[in-house]
Order: sequence, then C-alpha cells, then structure tokens
Amino acid sequence: MSFINKPHVILLFIISSTFILFVPALDLSNVPAESPTSDEDGFLPLAGKHVVICNKVKNRETLNVHCRSSEDDLGLIHIPWNHTWGFRFHVNIWKSTKFHCHFTWLGGGSHYFTIFKVSRDDSIIGYNVCKECIWEVGRNDENPICRVSRDKSILPHCFQWEEGP
Ligand SMILES: *[C@@H]1O[C@H](CO)[C@@H](O)[C@H](O)[C@H]1NC(C)=O
Repeated sequence: MSFINKPHVILLFIISSTFILFVPALDLSNVPAESPTSDEDGFLPLAGKHVVICNKVKNRETLNVHCRSSEDDLGLIHIPWNHTWGFRFHVNIWKSTKFHCHFTWLGGGSHYFTIFKVSRDDSIIGYNVCKECIWEVGRNDENPICRVSRDKSILPHCFQWEEGP
C-alpha cells in the first residue's frame, strides 16, 4: 500500500515546493505598508523590496533623483525637502538586481549611488537585509547617504557617494 502511495507523496512535494518558491514572485502591489518589524525578513528568493528615498539635504532644496536598473528607467523624480519617494520591485532569481541613482540638488552638486544591490541589502553577510530599504540623502557632508530603519531600532548605516558611470 505504501509502495503505491509513494509517487503521490513525491508529486505532492514537488507541487508544494514549486508553489512555495514562486509565491514571492507575485506582485502584491496593494499590500498595506510594512509593519516596522518586517524590516529584516526580506531575505527570500525573489523577495519583494521597497526602496524609499528621503530628501534631508541641508539647504532644504528639492532633490532630483534618476534611478535605473539594467531593465527599468524610473525617470527623473523631484522630491521636495523632507519628503520621500519610493519604488517596489522583486529581486531576480539570479540575485543580480541593481538600481543605480543619480542625485542632484541646487547647491549640492551631482552624485551617484547604487541604491540597491544584493551584496549589501539582501545578503546575510551584507549590512542587515531590508525589505523596506529607507535612505536619507544629504543630512551631512561626511555621511551623505544613510540607510535608516523606520522605527530607529537599527543605527543608521552611512555611505560615501560613488564614482559616476
Ligand atoms: C519632516 O518630516 C517628518 C516626518 O514626516 C516630520 O515629523 C517633521 O516635522 C518634518 N520636519 C520639518 C522641519 O518639517
């Protein structure tokens, strides 16, 4: 009897594991804002990510941001001071997803930064994994761009601007 049932068990296993693997690929655009505790649970295959950029430039000018990946160009966005703008995407199955942004503001110059990369933002050996990856831009010159957590439970992690393309 158990001999006959075995293929069913295997088939069931294959179906259920396929389902588990591909569920995160579904686009849940209408999900409500993440709860503060969800900041670190983004480490899944094809994880959904929400990158948020907050304009904190010292002179309170509008921040102009232009982000793109190898597939998507998100266009030129203008973020008023102390406001945020964000975008959602899924990390691809090869975990090679990257978004590069160009930042400018009046009196602030022109700067480049990789706003999302797996090695830093979605890897257990990087900085803490983020599902909602919040970045503050321009708060000070020594640390121009910092990843912060919404509930301030994790200390800001700051980076320097990168070389342009
Ligand atoms: C900046 O935004 C935060 C969050 O929305 C708000 O609490 C704060 O009062 C704002 N600061 C100023 C100076 O408007």
